[in-house]
Amino acid sequence: MAANIRALAAKALFQVVDKGRSLSDVLPELQQKAEAKDKALLQEICYGVLRVLPELEASLKDLVTKPLKGKTRSTHFLMLVGAYQLKYMRIPDHAAINETVNATKALKTDFLRGMVNGVLRNLQRNQPSIDENASDPVKFNHPSWFIKQIKNAYPQQWQNILENNQHKPPMWLRANARTNSAQEYVSLLGQANISVVRIDSNSDAILLEKPTDVSVLPGFEQGAVSVQDGAAQQAATLINCQANERILDICAAPGGKTCHMLELTPDIAEMVAIDIDGNRLARVQENLERISLNAELIEADASQPKTWWDGKQFDRILLDAPCSATGVIRRHPDIKWLRKASDIDVLVELQQQILDASWQLLKPGGTLLYATCSILPQENKDQVDAFLKRQSDATLVPIEQSQDDIGWQILPNEHSMDGFYYAKIMKS
Ligand SMILES: C[S@@+](CC[C@H](N)C(=O)[O-])C[C@H]1O[C@@H](n2cnc3c(N)ncnc32)[C@H](O)[C@@H]1O
Repeated sequence: MAANIRALAAKALFQVVDKGRSLSDVLPELQQKAEAKDKALLQEICYGVLRVLPELEASLKDLVTKPLKGKTRSTHFLMLVGAYQLKYMRIPDHAAINETVNATKALKTDFLRGMVNGVLRNLQRNQPSIDENASDPVKFNHPSWFIKQIKNAYPQQWQNILENNQHKPPMWLRANARTNSAQEYVSLLGQANISVVRIDSNSDAILLEKPTDVSVLPGFEQGAVSVQDGAAQQAATLINCQANERILDICAAPGGKTCHMLELTPDIAEMVAIDIDGNRLARVQENLERISLNAELIEADASQPKTWWDGKQFDRILLDAPCSATGVIRRHPDIKWLRKASDIDVLVELQQQILDASWQLLKPGGTLLYATCSILPQENKDQVDAFLKRQSDATLVPIEQSQDDIGWQILPNEHSMDGFYYAKIMKS
């Protein structure tokens, strides 16, 4: 018998919110149990609930008098799944309620069937609006520590940022410059009836009108195109690799930027890509193979060059540092609930160690591009500012597109891109 999608969604949410597992790990396991036609629905429900979790919790608060704990805890998430469908999905209410109530059986909580039914019928009759006096997490659907940090960092834009984080992200493509220009690829998309919004003038990234499965993208299997956000595609343009240079890509997996640099500059002398995670490094290899590109891959800790570096310096280094990923919450809403305030200091320390270690590997006259998908200043401009003060041979190179004093902070949804940060630093 086909698995009940609402029950699978409740299980996934339990794993993410209560057990701290990432949705991208949990979802594929559960999608295997769903019929092919239902996989997208399961995904939509899980992502959707995580986008507006506090608001849904608040809507249930007065209706569920006895908190569900222990073995009944996943039924709490089932009610959130029900509440999400009623408020945000086009599924007819009666079908959403029936399917959700039936899921109690799959969760082995049949005895709560009546309660789930009652709560959802109540919500159907009387959908509470968010009241003015609600707390900030409920009004803005983010954890309070994060709201506080964003208010501090962006006193004018904080509400916009939090709202943009709740949007579904668009799909961006990167045409492989070795096989076709962005303009040529847009023609191929037209022939396949796939609509394009625009091509980014800085990077040639292609913004699609609607997300689509990669299997329908012309030439995808042959490497003519890759999926990569518009912000991530700025990296290869900014670092501007030249023929015969030795390039190092630090924290490279899954290899989107490694491939992009190789596509733009086919005659690079050497591309070395390093990452600490062997499984993720295997994905770099898969991407290189699909696009028919070559790089030397090293599984190692970038903060410890002694363990892997041969002593030959590089002309350019891309350091795409491990970070809070707070710029990509619209793509990964689980980040809001997985990330804790205390993680930030640990990440800042790690970034500093990797940045300092990377600097020794750069030739005098060489350029390092520091990148994160974070919007927190501690990981971005403050990190780079402190680095420039520590390293007397480091000079900041201005980035044309940026209005910021140190580097370029792209905010989530700015020009439809993910939140990202870049700083270009030259070694004298
Ligand atoms: C933001 S992701 C990189 C994305 C990649 N540059 C791309 O464009 O596809 C950060 C990566 O840093 C890696 N990482 C974390 N700590 C590391 C360390 N100490 N040394 C090397 N890699 C590390 C993680 O495994 C992860 O793959």
